[in-house]
Amino acid sequence: MNHLLKYTLIFFAAVAAALFAVIQFFPGVSIPWQQLTGGASTDTETVDRQLQVPEGFRVELFADDVDNARWLAVTRRGDLLVSQPRRGQVSLLRADGNGDGRADHRRVLIDGLSRPHGLFLHEDWLYIAESNAVGRVPFDHSDGRLAGSYRKIVTGLADSGNHWTKTIAMGPDGWVYLTSGSSCNVCIEEDPRRATMMRFRPDGSDFEIFATGLRNAVGFDWSPKNGALYATDNGRDWLGDDFPPCELNRVKEGGFYGWPYANGDRVPDPDLGVGAGPAVQQKIADSIPPVHDFPAHNAPLGITFLRSPAQPARYRDAALVALHGSWNRSVKDGYKVVSLHWDKQGNIHQRDFLRGFLGENREQVYGRPVAIAEDAGGNIFISDDYAGAIYRVASGGDRQRAAAATNGQAPVQAPRKPLAIDSGAARRGEELYRRYGCAKCHAEQIPLRGLSKRYSLQTLADYFDTPTPPMPNYGFSGTEKRALAHYLMSLEAGISSSIDQLPASG
Ligand code: HEC
Repeated sequence: MNHLLKYTLIFFAAVAAALFAVIQFFPGVSIPWQQLTGGASTDTETVDRQLQVPEGFRVELFADDVDNARWLAVTRRGDLLVSQPRRGQVSLLRADGNGDGRADHRRVLIDGLSRPHGLFLHEDWLYIAESNAVGRVPFDHSDGRLAGSYRKIVTGLADSGNHWTKTIAMGPDGWVYLTSGSSCNVCIEEDPRRATMMRFRPDGSDFEIFATGLRNAVGFDWSPKNGALYATDNGRDWLGDDFPPCELNRVKEGGFYGWPYANGDRVPDPDLGVGAGPAVQQKIADSIPPVHDFPAHNAPLGITFLRSPAQPARYRDAALVALHGSWNRSVKDGYKVVSLHWDKQGNIHQRDFLRGFLGENREQVYGRPVAIAEDAGGNIFISDDYAGAIYRVASGGDRQRAAAATNGQAPVQAPRKPLAIDSGAARRGEELYRRYGCAKCHAEQIPLRGLSKRYSLQTLADYFDTPTPPMPNYGFSGTEKRALAHYLMSLEAGISSSIDQLPASG
């Protein structure tokens, strides 16, 4: 390459980087970064402006800065436990005792775990599902502290590939139920425990597979009316915007729910069902269809039946389902919490419950709901792993609009240091990005934008240890993670086009 071109490129890169830095340091030049990047934090103004609940309810920001908030459980004292798989920890958020609508304070309850996701409390035990194990630890409800040491009761669960999260809950029958997603989009699993629901005794004994053909049943709960077990399930990808549906299944012992041979109501899968032999055709015919369809790619995660007598009559015994939102779809869809209502004939009707996580144009994302928990007083808590937030929805409509008068300005961002990109690492990162075909998902479906607003080089490197499903965990080494982080951040800093021209620094 000739020198003139080389220096021209470096010049433009420097100008771009300088501009970037200047804009960030200049509060007067108010660029709504959140709007551009779909920021991963939120605040009361955004919640008041964006989020909507049905009449008779109000929604508030109960806690923010809860990085990677996933599963929830309420203690007997009314405190909230939240799992944060990316941080390897479970935190305790103190119940709102002073009435300001926010958690009073918070602390890490237990850390050093391997991607803890599901959790529940039973008697004086806290059960936690790590990506490869289930453990339990004595828990003191009165002061919200651990009262003994954590011991694993189930080990050796597979957590490779796409859907590594594990969810657990105690059934009304005293068994502990556990779901594990598939390792892939669509394939024949080698490990019989993938894409299933399992169960075992509270001490880990009598482990057995309970139901199969569940691609990724992240949430499940029992109807308080009749004890029936319902589980959400995420349909497969890459069959277009509107097929297959995501599912709600009524799960029965020994039931087979179709995956990977069939989607929706026994529609043979184009890859593994169509043209398959008679044994597979029989399996498809015998598979149990969903009792309710969610639109394709909506990604239903947590489902929780409302049990508190404090709920308005029409919501008592309804179930809330968190639709995490689509990634494999040309126009975003989902991104809300819906309520499911059973009529006398047993038909299920779906209504919006908490919406507004998607902007008007369906591009801007303000949050992605994951799990739902109800406390004894009827407060409904909803976690959001995108904005790192917990919302509280309660009936009674007074407080919600109080702070609604916003001036439409983006929150002021703290100035950030310019990124110290190592061009040698960035180049190796670019090669990894090509070699692993990251563009398959990230070229159009999920553009990787605004990362520098939400990650440091270190936290971006760490991201690859606990990627958001269905992004696979590639098991990258420390050097590889660092290389990818430097590469992706270099795109942000506007120097990607000239990365080849920068001097290598090792
Ligand atoms: C099968 C599709 C798929 C592949 C392949 C894939 N990803 Fe992802 N990736 C995802 C999904 C889905 C998310 C989560 C998006 C969200 O939370 O909105 C994600 C998130 C990310 C994020 C975090 C984005 C953010 O805004 O917080 C990074 C960084 C990332 N991927 C990098 C990579 C890299 C590097 C590769 C290749 C080594 C890769 N991905 C391969 C699907 C994929």
